Amino acid sequence: MLSTNNTPKETNITKYLYNGKLEIWTGEFRKVFSPIYSKQTSNPILLGSVPDMGQSQAMKLLASAENSYDKGRGVWAISALEERVKSIIKLKELLLSKKDKLVNLLMWEIAKTKQESAMEFDRTIVYLEDTITEAMRLVDTFGKPQIIGDIKMFSQKSPLGVVLCIGPYNYPLNETFCLLIPALLMGNSVIFKPAEQGILIMDSLMEIYNECFPKGVINVFFGKGENLAPALLKTGKVDVLALIGNSKTANKLNHLHPKPNRLKTILGLEAKNIAIISNDCDIDIALKEVLLGSLAFNGQRCTAIKLVFVHKDIVEEFNSKFSQLVDSLVIGMPWEEGVKITPLPQEKKPAYLLSLIEDAQKIGATIINKKGGNIDRTLVYPTVLYPVSADMRIYNEEQFGPIVPISPYNDEQEILDYLVDSDYGQQLSLFTNNINDKLDFVNMLRNQVCRININTKCQRGPDIFPFTGRKDSAVDSLSVGDSIRAFSIDSLVSVKL
Ligand code: G3H
Repeated sequence: MLSTNNTPKETNITKYLYNGKLEIWTGEFRKVFSPIYSKQTSNPILLGSVPDMGQSQAMKLLASAENSYDKGRGVWAISALEERVKSIIKLKELLLSKKDKLVNLLMWEIAKTKQESAMEFDRTIVYLEDTITEAMRLVDTFGKPQIIGDIKMFSQKSPLGVVLCIGPYNYPLNETFCLLIPALLMGNSVIFKPAEQGILIMDSLMEIYNECFPKGVINVFFGKGENLAPALLKTGKVDVLALIGNSKTANKLNHLHPKPNRLKTILGLEAKNIAIISNDCDIDIALKEVLLGSLAFNGQRCTAIKLVFVHKDIVEEFNSKFSQLVDSLVIGMPWEEGVKITPLPQEKKPAYLLSLIEDAQKIGATIINKKGGNIDRTLVYPTVLYPVSADMRIYNEEQFGPIVPISPYNDEQEILDYLVDSDYGQQLSLFTNNINDKLDFVNMLRNQVCRININTKCQRGPDIFPFTGRKDSAVDSLSVGDSIRAFSIDSLVSVKL
């Protein structure tokens, strides 16, 4: 099933970025494999290797970030925002020159389709451009003093300190930059740890960072986050924890700081976004959007639709058409034309997904699409489960994979109850042709999630829009303007006239 003849050249990362230098790593290495298997050997394809660092190296990198920030007196921290913007513009130019290489690595390492990998790259460039525009607007605004009564005030956004930044595997380029760029732009110093998958792009990125920023402003380390991040937090020298990951990790980490009030957290966490298919909706639109919303990149998006509530009146029609659509999705290799479902990069994910399917089946759900339930090593065929009920794990757990659970409903109150009791509160999609009749319902939904998408899938973009979540889905907001504010603090100079 999984095959290839054109294996990429190995990327062996032998250096790490420390204190303005790409230092040679002399310790252990971890091999990086593709979730794609070789036709010839029937084994996963070896893509390269990365340093496997321990706590002492992580501490060394932390000291480098700390020195460069120098408690707010460092070169980068005191430089003007206009100067920092120049570095971000340079970064953008260098990034553009590496597009093909980065897109190819994403495709092989996390099996994101070629088209989606290119889209991830392109939206990152747009994000950089928008952030630059927003920063220049700030420069403009802060140039002008405000006078109220007899007080004249000059305001500025100042840095927070040392940022520990941990990126995710599903958007290793885009979501990493969404944290890193505002953090750097606002004058902070960073210690960055990439996720375990989607890591090989760091080879090119470290070179780029090193060309763009003064020494020690950005430091990159490799290794197991669960071993290293707690040790870094315990030092009390991390001022900001910026993490795209899950709430359990974040909960463990943010209690470790010895002076917790000094730690700011900026978190993008898990979600269980639902779709509500009302009996008055345009069913074709709902089918198309739920298909894309639940299964794009195999459902590995924090914004993916992870539970579908369908009104009892139309559930039969919806299920039968939806199952056919799911079975028509092209399953294959990420470089193949039209392919939508690809291998999963996380080693334990297929077994986890199978356990969710089996749990639901035991309690009374069935797999309603013909190809559903098939698993071939890293390839999990999209699986539609029905009827899903509250006692099944898939009802509440974030699957982050290609399973679409469908639950029938009769009354909107059942959906409100679900949301009120949920640990998450990022977004939802509501499909209806009579939005005016549902304004009260929408108003109630607003207090449960942070974005209600009418007749369309859930999604983060455009990046100018606020992107946040309630409860265990997020802390702070990560849109272009909001993240600039998140990674900085207001500092004023006021004069009595
Ligand atoms: O994984 C979370 C991403 O921020 C989702 O972004 O909705 O644009 O796919 P997206």
